[in-house]
Amino acid sequence: MTTDSIEYEGTDLGVGDFILLSDITMETFVENLKIRFEKGRIYTYIGEVLVSMNPYRELPLYSPEYIQSYKGCDMFERSAHIFALAEAAYRTLKQYSASSCIVISGESGSGKTEASKIILRYITAVTNVSNQTEIQRISNILIQTNVILEAFGNSRTNRNDNSSRFGKYMDLNFDYKFEPMGGKIQHYLLEKSRVVKQQLGERNFHAFYQLLSNEDSLKTYGFRLQPEEYHYINQGNCCRLERIDDKRNFEQVIEAFHTVGFTEDEITTVWKIVGAIIHLGNLTFVDVDGEHCSVKRIDDETDPLLWISKLLECEQSEILSALTSRVVAARNEVFQTRQNITRACYGRDALSKALYERLFEWLVRYINKTLSQVSQEQIDYPFRRVYTSVVIGILDIYGFEICENNSFEQLCINYCNEKLQQLFIELVLRQEQDEYECEDITWQHVEYFDNKIICDLIDQPRHSILAYLDEACQIVGTVTDDMFLNSINQAFKTHPHYSSWETAPSDKAWKNIDTNKLFLIRHYAGDVIYSVDGFLDKNRDPLFDDFKRLLYHSQNPILSSMWPEGEKSITSISRRPLTIGTVFQNSMTSLCNLLSSKQPFYVRCIKPNVEKSEDLFDQTLIEHQIAYLGLLENVRVRRAGFCHRISYERFVQRYKIIDCVRSKLHPHGPFTRESATYICEELHINEDVVYGNTKLFVKHPTSLFQLERKRREGLESIITILQKSIRSWSQCRRYRRENAAVKIQSFYRKYRARRYIFQVNDTFSDYLGKIITWPPSGSNFAPLNAVLKRFYRRWRLNRIKLLLPLAQQEAFDCKLFASQYLHNRSSFFDISIYQQWKGDYLRLPEENSRVSEYRKALHEIRARDNFSQVLFSTLAIKLNSHMKMDERAIILTDKDIYRVDPKKNFQFKKLGTPVDDIV
Ligand SMILES: Nc1ncnc2c1ncn2[C@@H]1O[C@H](COP(=O)(O)OP(=O)(O)OP(=O)(O)O)[C@@H](O)[C@H]1O
Ligand SMILES: [Mg+2]
Repeated sequence: MTTDSIEYEGTDLGVGDFILLSDITMETFVENLKIRFEKGRIYTYIGEVLVSMNPYRELPLYSPEYIQSYKGCDMFERSAHIFALAEAAYRTLKQYSASSCIVISGESGSGKTEASKIILRYITAVTNVSNQTEIQRISNILIQTNVILEAFGNSRTNRNDNSSRFGKYMDLNFDYKFEPMGGKIQHYLLEKSRVVKQQLGERNFHAFYQLLSNEDSLKTYGFRLQPEEYHYINQGNCCRLERIDDKRNFEQVIEAFHTVGFTEDEITTVWKIVGAIIHLGNLTFVDVDGEHCSVKRIDDETDPLLWISKLLECEQSEILSALTSRVVAARNEVFQTRQNITRACYGRDALSKALYERLFEWLVRYINKTLSQVSQEQIDYPFRRVYTSVVIGILDIYGFEICENNSFEQLCINYCNEKLQQLFIELVLRQEQDEYECEDITWQHVEYFDNKIICDLIDQPRHSILAYLDEACQIVGTVTDDMFLNSINQAFKTHPHYSSWETAPSDKAWKNIDTNKLFLIRHYAGDVIYSVDGFLDKNRDPLFDDFKRLLYHSQNPILSSMWPEGEKSITSISRRPLTIGTVFQNSMTSLCNLLSSKQPFYVRCIKPNVEKSEDLFDQTLIEHQIAYLGLLENVRVRRAGFCHRISYERFVQRYKIIDCVRSKLHPHGPFTRESATYICEELHINEDVVYGNTKLFVKHPTSLFQLERKRREGLESIITILQKSIRSWSQCRRYRRENAAVKIQSFYRKYRARRYIFQVNDTFSDYLGKIITWPPSGSNFAPLNAVLKRFYRRWRLNRIKLLLPLAQQEAFDCKLFASQYLHNRSSFFDISIYQQWKGDYLRLPEENSRVSEYRKALHEIRARDNFSQVLFSTLAIKLNSHMKMDERAIILTDKDIYRVDPKKNFQFKKLGTPVDDIV
């Protein structure tokens, strides 16, 4: 796998961007294309336009490794590839939140549809970053819709085995993470005439052959004949082709139906309609009386009417009547007119085409409903995924074609390609040159062919081919295709891009042609001769109301729902519908408006040969395509121009985060030319840029890469700063929260404690002296409770003390004081604590029987020892050394302590021991 940048691909591979060619001529252009084509390098840039050659072989360019190598890369960082273009479109979406569109153009068989599928595969692969199954499911649905639409809208033509016979524009929706979340498909004019008529070598739509290739369905749908025997599918004489595996494709379509969400009933109905159309092709008529006809019946299981009735679930008689007669209402009266064979055949074909067209429209509607439901589901969960309004549009439309017999369909297809070329000129060539002029940039003007004149020839109001066609369709009475041809011959006889046998018989185009039913348009991509036969009819596209009513009344509700207008009464008047040409013209105008409102990316597809060969390089064919696609002009405009342009405001806004300029530029402006100049000077790319009035133009991609690389580095450092700030902010917030939590806890604890204290207070305030239960509290209140209990005891004691007389209060204090020392020491403590303290106990007759002797002795000793009061006196027992007991009196005065014998009249013989000596 080699995916070097376009500048380092190696000289043997030519140049990866045509603007790198030294000399820009058709020869050098083709030479470069050839070198690359032979080396399997099918992609080359012209600036941001991708030129893609159809390799007509499988190339190893689309593996998952390739996808990964282009993911997230700038367009010119790797070798030219369609993945790089898809990545650029996706990056536009992500970086600028702007919608983009990829316009794929080129002639039939040049590889547009393949390119669109590759782009879709790439986008769905790189966008499911988180590998979610839901995203995978959406991606699968998006991819599988292609399988269904290709089966029903593509066919084998002489130019392409899988030619798109309808135009397709697909919008991919993204969510806020830029992951795909649905989409919308718009389809343009299906070539329905193919249902009933194919040129030699061409086939009907693939779906017809797929149904017939499946043996299991042959019986169910009533196919008793060989495919070659069914008129609607055998006209090209190539029912079976080696290159197309109808059986396998049928299985894939069934799988796709299931993936998209079709029910079994719906799938069966789809195939029933396809089957019924095949049978309709074999339905023939027999003449009854020269003016009327009837359906030719076959008396066995191959009878087409029998199977049409079974498959469409309509009564045989009603089908018969709708095919062979017409109900007409005039002035509120209803008539039935019988049809001749020609008109009946016309009606049958019109019915077949309309059935198929409605089926195709229903399929697109169904797919869109599924895709929008997917998006809706995501919107319904706003926290999960948010829908963004930016989209990537992919346009894959039928390519320019010149068939053997070109009719109204080819005119529409080629007109569509003219419009797309016009858009390309508008957006790529003209706008680019206009911009240089506006910006006052020195510029060498490049001439190019502007195909507006051809677009005008086809679609200008009142004076164009489509306008004259509409006018002819509106005339009441018999108007023929020849009359229409006459009118355009008159109108455009001098037009440089119009010719007909009548207006320019000398034109070499009419040399060997003997019919005068033709006209020629010189398209940008070549001259095309159109046969005017059937133009009016195809433009009017009438379908008789009988068929609408018939199908509306089908027993099959799905089929019936495709024909709502069949409900109208026969006599109701309906407005004339717009002609096919007008509808197509309107849809082209709105498509161009849609595309020009988005950032466009172009893929210009080139077909190397008409033989579908992988090694044939048809120089003439390729030169022709290069010329009409305007690729040389594109290179010239691009080369003289710049690879990138950007307004000063956007430039400064985008690159101000580059490390070396960040500190100098203010985050909020000014986003001026001076700031942009400063950035370019700092990055030394001043030489490679040009300053316009409002925009800056970058000449070379390398400068752009440098800017982008520096921006990425700047982003990384900003991300680091952001991460740091976020981390510090989150830590601070955590700290503050924790701190707050601690404060709240502490306040709450205080509050609870205070509440508890009040509770305790309330509990005990009225219960002085009583013993009541302590109010319950949590275990964490134990320390508080201990303190409270202590306080409470003190308080209670104090209150109890205050109830005592004053004298007792003092004694009480003394007792308390003593209790500190004696508690648990004296066995009398408990008894004595409840007794009143009397101090001089020996003075009391109840304590001392010899009170008078005591008083007398005391009186004497007071005079001798001069003390002022007796603090304590009592009787005590003395044990001598022989363990003999004797009674003694102990007297404590404020000065001394005495021990005397009561039996000896308390005589204080000895001096007392001074109290101070004891303490
Ligand atoms: N990148 C490719 N790799 C391999 N084969 C390719 C590639 N592109 C195109 N082809 C081949 O060319 C064929 C025609 O391509 P495709 O159907 O994409 O043409 P187209 O431009 O869509 O034509 P039309 O306008 O008729 O629809 C494909 O069926 C395929 O065989
Ligand atoms: Mg195609």
